[in-house]
This record gives sequence, structure tokens and C-alpha cells, in this order.
Amino acid sequence: MPTYILGIESSCDDTSAAVIKDNVILSNIIANQQVHASFGGVVPELASRAHQQNIIPVIHEAIRQAGISKNQLNAVAFTRGPGLLGSLLVGTSFAKAFSFAMDIPLIEIDHMQAHILAHFIQNEEGSKILPSFPFLCLTVSGGHTQIVLVSDYFDMKVIGRTIDDAAGEAFDKAAKIMGLPYPGGPLVDKYGADGNPLAFKFSKPAIPGLDYSFSGLKTSFLYFLRDRLKEDADFIERHKADLCASIQHSIVSALTAKLMLAVKQTGITQVAIAGGVSANSALRKAMNDLQDEGKITAFIPEFRFSTDNAAMIAIAGYFRYLKRDFSDLSMSPYSRSNS
Ligand code: KG4
Ligand code: ZN
Repeated sequence: MPTYILGIESSCDDTSAAVIKDNVILSNIIANQQVHASFGGVVPELASRAHQQNIIPVIHEAIRQAGISKNQLNAVAFTRGPGLLGSLLVGTSFAKAFSFAMDIPLIEIDHMQAHILAHFIQNEEGSKILPSFPFLCLTVSGGHTQIVLVSDYFDMKVIGRTIDDAAGEAFDKAAKIMGLPYPGGPLVDKYGADGNPLAFKFSKPAIPGLDYSFSGLKTSFLYFLRDRLKEDADFIERHKADLCASIQHSIVSALTAKLMLAVKQTGITQVAIAGGVSANSALRKAMNDLQDEGKITAFIPEFRFSTDNAAMIAIAGYFRYLKRDFSDLSMSPYSRSNS
């Protein structure tokens, strides 16, 4: 008998629901919230309200597209944290009510672990090569930048992290400085495709060990543009492609340098990337190049499983279901993780 799990993700500004049959995704519906673009960032209260509007239709559509009846679901998994509390509460409340009404287990999932476990989603043919334990995962999103040593599905140790901005934040802030709307990361990627990554140089973060720092890079970018704009008011418009390619190159080379240091220190050569920034084309190319050079075996997630989605919550839920690791109705969401 297959196991069907409903996954729900509502930690930030995407409302998503997915249905998984064992480790194969049947549906993965995502409602993006456009309401934040003009504010230059996610507005928590607006995000929470949009989740409330979206959640029922998104879940309805996920179950419909999966081609099953809700009575066939074995469990409901949801993001407990980290994220925006008002957003998490919408998914959590729905999941609790659904578990109670359907009399099925409730499974809490950590959003950052789920980004990593997305690598275990199998395709319909069962032909995808999945990572084996242990492996390293660079988890890079709007709120986190971590190098994680993954020893088992739920045995993960953060061995490096940012001491200030996350990589996604560095992309978004650089984009904002150039006057691009939120979230700017995908736009930097898009415009940078036609630019020269070595056109401009910005200060390199100098921080020991496996940790990251991106705030100096942002400041260097800001001061560089401020000086150029004094001489040429159209500097950004005329050099957009080179600016995007260069800042992207700075962020990606900082990311891969520490990742390769982690490979050297641990001797582990299976390396995955996860989280929104893993959608970045320069990072994906850098990982493929390192693989071609024989330095690592790279695991790069499909685009649809890179940025926030409920498929990753469903696969994490599946592994917890196999362990019968269930939550009770008294639990509440958390905004920050302890790791
Ligand atoms: O994982 P995610 O969807 O949400 C969080 O959990 O934060 O990550 C969102 C972050 C944003 O900062 C966004 O700008 C960045 O991922 N991002 C990208 C790209 N696609 C998304 N950054 C650079 N290049 C991309 N193609
Ligand atoms: Zn995320």
C-alpha cells in the first residue's frame, strides 16, 4: 500500500501545497504573493493575510491534481519554522484542523531541513540518482546560508554559517541598490547572463573557517556605485549586465570557496546545494564545473524544488511518517531555529 502525504508550506511569502505518493511527487501547487514587490521586501502582515486567502484553494488544487481523494491521505506535514510567525500560523492552524478532522497524523517539518531533503524526491521512473550519507549541503536562501553535514535524513549538523547577511539577502540588497524590485536575486541572475563577471571587483569577505560574511560586499557595492553615479548618472543603466554578473560572481565565488574548504576538511566529496539561491545559474554552473574537474559529485535540485515549495515538506513528512514521528495538536510554530 502506498503512503500519501499532504505537505503544506507557508513560512514566508509563498503558499504551497503538495501531495506525495511514497517518494514521488503527484502535485506541487505554489501561489506567489505579488503584493510585496513594491515594498522592497516581504511585509509580514500582508503575507499572513495572503496566506489566509490562498491556503484553501491551493490545498484543494494540490489534492485535485494528485488525482486522489482526501480520504486517501495518510498524514499531513507542515512547516513549523523557521519563518514569519504570522505566515507559519496559517499553515500550522490548517494542518492541525485537517489532521483532527480527518483523524490522520500531524507531522511538523523544519523548513531548512526540508530544503535539503528535497534531494530525495524521486522521479516517476525511479531513475534519479539520490545522494547517499554522509554528504555536504550548501543551504542558501533569503534568510539562511549554511554548510550542513548531513549524516542521515534527520541527523544534520551546521558546520558553517553566515555571521551577518544571507546569500539571498546579498543578492536582494545588491538588486535594491541598483533599483530593481524585490526579490532581486532572480533579476540579477537574468541581467547578469549578458554581462562580464570580471568587469568590476568588490571587496572579498575575509572571515576565518567555514563561516560566511556578506555585509562587507554589500557596502563595497554601495560605495562603488555611489562614486560612479557622481560621475555618470546613467552608470547603472549603462552597465547593468556587467554589474549584475560581477556581483553575482563575487557572491558565488565566496560560496564555493568555503564549500570547497569544507570538502577538504571533512573529506566528503558528495556536495548538494539547496534553497532559493540554488536556482542561481552561476552557482549551478560553478557546481557543475567542480564536478567536471573531478573535485566533487554535485547534486543540484530541479528549479521547482529550489525556491520555497511544499514538495520538500511532503518528502520530509514521508521520512518522518516512516519513523512514526508525529506531533500533537498542542505544538506551536517557531520563527527561528536553534541550530
Ligand atoms: O528558499 P527561498 O525561496 O525562501 C527562503 O526560505 O528565504 O529563497 C529566496 C531567496 C531570495 O533571496 C531570492 O532572491 C533568492 O532566493 N533567489 C535567487 C534566485 N532565485 C531565488 N538568488 C539568485 N539567483 C536566483 N536565480
Ligand atoms: Zn526557503
